[in-house]
Amino acid sequence: MSSTSILVFGATGTQGHPVVEAALEAGLRVRAATRDLHEAEEKLPGRVECFRADLLDAEDVRAAAEGVDGIFFHLPVMPDQPEAESAVDHVLAAASSEGVGRVIFTTAGYCGDDMPPGKFVDGLRRISDRILASDVPAVVLRPTLYLANLVWPHIIREIREYGRLTYPPLDAGQRLNWTSTEDQGRIAVACLDAEVAGEVIDVASPEPVNGPELCRLLAGVYGREVHFAPQSIDGFADAMSHITGSAHSGMLLAGLYEGIASLENGPLIDTEALETRLGVRLTPVSRWVRDRLGYLLSLYG
Ligand SMILES: NC(=O)c1ccc[n+]([C@@H]2O[C@H](COP(=O)([O-])OP(=O)(O)OC[C@H]3O[C@@H](n4cnc5c(N)ncnc54)[C@H](OP(=O)(O)O)[C@@H]3O)[C@@H](O)[C@H]2O)c1
Repeated sequence: MSSTSILVFGATGTQGHPVVEAALEAGLRVRAATRDLHEAEEKLPGRVECFRADLLDAEDVRAAAEGVDGIFFHLPVMPDQPEAESAVDHVLAAASSEGVGRVIFTTAGYCGDDMPPGKFVDGLRRISDRILASDVPAVVLRPTLYLANLVWPHIIREIREYGRLTYPPLDAGQRLNWTSTEDQGRIAVACLDAEVAGEVIDVASPEPVNGPELCRLLAGVYGREVHFAPQSIDGFADAMSHITGSAHSGMLLAGLYEGIASLENGPLIDTEALETRLGVRLTPVSRWVRDRLGYLLSLYG
């Protein structure tokens, strides 16, 4: 690997933390941008350089980008908000002025070519186009559904108490590739030096499953029967409004799932091609559930 350093936005969060881990694993110097230095220093390993920066402040982002080879970031707000474009412009301007060799952006939500239009998807596509139209060597990652969502407290509670998985709000027969944030972290780091500038890459973990198949895997770690009883889209919009504290976000996210529900199957991603192309080993869903989810459940009781 010729890159030696990466600036990670969202390093204290679900999405960015695994990028930090993968970068450290690859021997890179990691700078974590955060709005709260104290909290970041508590959460991140001592080898990580914590740097105070807000994506919505252009000068913060420029200063954070000084001397790094790559920048990883995701949107700090919903894609239809004006702040989303500001955050993107700040990263692109910083990368350009500081001569950063690679910008890695994750849409953090599925907006593959097979998806119908919708507010969320259209917003992500607009942002992705903006990034790829710039003169900065950038790559856009488009992950599918996060396995990390299975750790939402209400999901764990419903499985424990009722043996019921209500997420995702899709038909039981719809088979799709989920994605672990750990795999996304490895992919993001591999994209630092791979010849991927100007590309959009769909990202997922191997082993597509449908709802009942996922339930059988979950039964193994919960030690009880789990059945798939998907929420309606409206129920999901309510749950997301509650989790995000915003009815607008709930509505946008529900629109995303409505789009996914309209696909006959999928999203389905050729994960073997992804592994070969980027030289990464990805974690099949069954192994993630057994090892990672099993570990998290044992930690949190
Ligand atoms: N596709 C899916 O299934 C799925 C599932 C879950 C989440 N997501 C998406 O993934 C993305 C990240 O979510 P997450 O779960 O990682 O969030 P999270 O755990 O709540 O963390 C948010 C991160 O963003 C950083 N951040 C927020 N505003 C910022 C700003 N103005 N400037 C700099 N950093 C800022 C925070 O850093 P500090 O607080 O340290 O500053 C924190 O590290 C979101 O876009 C979310 O919608 C997608």
